[in-house]
Amino acid sequence: MSATQYLTEDEVGILLTAASHAPSMHNTQPWKFEIHGPVIDVLRDSERALPAADRGGRMSRIGLGAAAFNLRVAAALLGHETTLALEPDPARPDVALRIFLAARNVPVPGLSSLYGEITRRHTYRGPMAGVPMPPELRHKLAVAAGSEGAELDWLDSSQRTRLAHIIQTADERDLHDEDRLHERLRWIGDRREGDGVPGAALGPLPQGPAMVRDLAAGFDTPDREHAIFESTAAVAVLCTPSEDTHAWLRAGMALQRLLLTATSHDVAASFLNQPLEYADLRDEVRTVAGRQAWPQVILRCGYPAHSTGHAPRRHWNDTLSEWH
Ligand SMILES: Cc1cc2nc3c(=O)[nH]c(=O)nc-3n(C[C@H](O)[C@H](O)[C@H](O)COP(=O)(O)O)c2cc1C
Repeated sequence: MSATQYLTEDEVGILLTAASHAPSMHNTQPWKFEIHGPVIDVLRDSERALPAADRGGRMSRIGLGAAAFNLRVAAALLGHETTLALEPDPARPDVALRIFLAARNVPVPGLSSLYGEITRRHTYRGPMAGVPMPPELRHKLAVAAGSEGAELDWLDSSQRTRLAHIIQTADERDLHDEDRLHERLRWIGDRREGDGVPGAALGPLPQGPAMVRDLAAGFDTPDREHAIFESTAAVAVLCTPSEDTHAWLRAGMALQRLLLTATSHDVAASFLNQPLEYADLRDEVRTVAGRQAWPQVILRCGYPAHSTGHAPRRHWNDTLSEWH
């Protein structure tokens, strides 16, 4: 560290390790970071894009928003209030978010309390226990999403039935889409180091119909166990009032705030995003949710009945492209 550097190496490690633990589609971790004094830029790493499943870059921006939220939480623990600028530099469109750290004080109340949940949170694709989530907790998660500018809508049973049909259509399309299949083969299954979704994190195969996305659908994953899944999952749709790159980044921050809040109540989540990857099916989900808002993420939530493996992360050093 030079005498002029604002953060120590340990502090940079804390910030970027937190950021790396954000969720991202297929665990591509589509981010890199530049640090200039008290300013941290979150950049899109185009080498980690998913051209088949995420042609428009919506999912990767949701991941970048989630990473930025984790950065804010870690900064709050270190005592920094943060302010944000979305896509701050027209000359550098790869800079998705710029985070400004204010002068250090005591840990920032509220945000810093979520720090311990960052490494506990992971996507849980197994069956849920038959214990319903209390209505106050559902409300709390909606408030968490709302405070980042998004909306979380819990679906009733008739909406869930309609969604299940749309998901089925998406699953069938996925199975016959060679490009998506190859992309999944590149990122999913087996043992993984640093990125991708290892077989151990896929969870068991459902016996019978279940509201879960099997990321390995279409290719063999040996030794996979089977399990009976809950018959009525708690399903929510995270929406934004508008549809542009800023909305996607905000959706990512809202997603991560609600997921960390859920983790603090021992509630786990998995993604049912397959219909949102097809424009016509996304419109159908929009109709089911009954809102003008734009669906960005579909979540299945509950208390996990088992445990499943975690997806690996790269070392924070590998995500830092500039620091002075
Ligand atoms: C925008 C977005 C979309 C995702 N879509 C899916 C999905 O459809 N199915 C799924 O099983 N996981 C999905 N995931 C979860 C990622 O696979 C997961 O975050 C990644 O593997 C890292 O693992 P972790 O969440 O356990 O840390 C999605 C994550 C994000 C951020």
